[in-house]
Amino acid sequence: MQSHSQVLVIGAGAAGLMCAAMAGQQGLSVRVVDHANKAGKKILMSGGGRCNFTNYYIEPNRYLSRNPHFCKSALSRYTQWDFIGLVDRYGVAWHEKKDGQLFCDNKASDILNMLLDECTAGSVDISLETAIESVSFIHKENGGDRGVFILETSKGRFSADSLVIATGGPSIPTLGATGFGYQLARQFGLNVFDPVAALVPFTITDHLSGLCKTLSGNSCRVRVTCDKQSFLDDMLFTHRGMSGPAMLQISSYWQPGQTLTIDLLPELDVAEELRRLQHQSPKQLLRTWLGQQLTQKFAECWLTQMEWPADITLAALNGEQMDRLGAQLNQWQVKPSGTEGYRTAEVALGGVDTDELSSRTMEAKKQPGLYFIGEVIDVTGHLGGFNFQWAWSSAYAASGHL
Ligand code: FDA
Repeated sequence: MQSHSQVLVIGAGAAGLMCAAMAGQQGLSVRVVDHANKAGKKILMSGGGRCNFTNYYIEPNRYLSRNPHFCKSALSRYTQWDFIGLVDRYGVAWHEKKDGQLFCDNKASDILNMLLDECTAGSVDISLETAIESVSFIHKENGGDRGVFILETSKGRFSADSLVIATGGPSIPTLGATGFGYQLARQFGLNVFDPVAALVPFTITDHLSGLCKTLSGNSCRVRVTCDKQSFLDDMLFTHRGMSGPAMLQISSYWQPGQTLTIDLLPELDVAEELRRLQHQSPKQLLRTWLGQQLTQKFAECWLTQMEWPADITLAALNGEQMDRLGAQLNQWQVKPSGTEGYRTAEVALGGVDTDELSSRTMEAKKQPGLYFIGEVIDVTGHLGGFNFQWAWSSAYAASGHL
């Protein structure tokens, strides 16, 4: 097979489908190529199967990047309201879960089907199960910077005037994720920041590993701080460490070797409260009090771990002990041994250096006609629909320039 189109998009994921649909609807001939046997696998897995497709509160400060300004232009030109408008036109039922996070009422496939219908409306050709063997660029005679991109694939040769790379990041390889976009960027001389797993659970192998195992499945609301960043959300103990939204969020800021400060009772100054209660209910057991704040199981396991006597009453605590307990509960120091890595990470930090791209069009400055969109770029959102919004916004930015 041999075919030429005006636009070739590599990657039939969130950004690739969105960009292809918009370009196709502008009248351009568009082909999407993906090695997976199904389009949009991450969309289907996302948000626990309900796809957290955007957030009411999209702000540039919810994104990590070497250049925090890069995302501003695209996010402001295709906003969460634009995507909500699209979802509403398709009659997809949705709801706000919490903190502005918008989810489908039914299934994530509602979003994927919407994108595929948009592609059909733009007469986009989608070639799945197509392995890319090589990508090259041939200058047009008298074409200046312009030329033709040629893809040699398992299904033949595809060529195009513009090439859009929407291959995402390397997290969850079983869903077809690869570092192909980085490799391609390097082939065209662009700088790439090495990817690092983010929005990922922590592993704990030190003296706290037994506690994590025992409390596995238990969760509580905490404030976790690392590297001057804080998140107030749920923490979940797992067999191998700690997870839950608070931990996933902070993992994007954590560096190996750093310690997390976890406030287990973020609404309470523990030392102050214990001093107050010592007068009010002196006979109350410390573990009963802590069990009322958290859960009884949590209180017992945690106090044993911290070597507090099982039957100590509030009256028996001296000032130094109350301060120590206060510090242990309000500023629990936890040093993860690592993260679960790309096997379970939702995204990857790093990617194509934003200095190499136009923030208005996502086109590579060194290679006209070559575009990068979505997660492959060094722009990573917080948990909560921010990453999909980046996929939609960056796709829109590129589509208007193809
Ligand atoms: P995406 O990964 O969607 O698509 C890349 C495509 O490129 C894939 O189809 C892949 O097969 C293809 N590809 C890769 N290498 C290739 C190669 N060599 N040749 C051909 N094709 C290739 N975000 C959010 O905002 N809300 C949420 O609810 C969730 N939930 C969530 C759950 C889970 C389990 C994960 C792993 C991730 C999320 N995310 C999320 C993150 C979100 O899924 C992610 O940021 C976007 O899918 C990124 O969109 P892209 O289009 O850039 O890549």
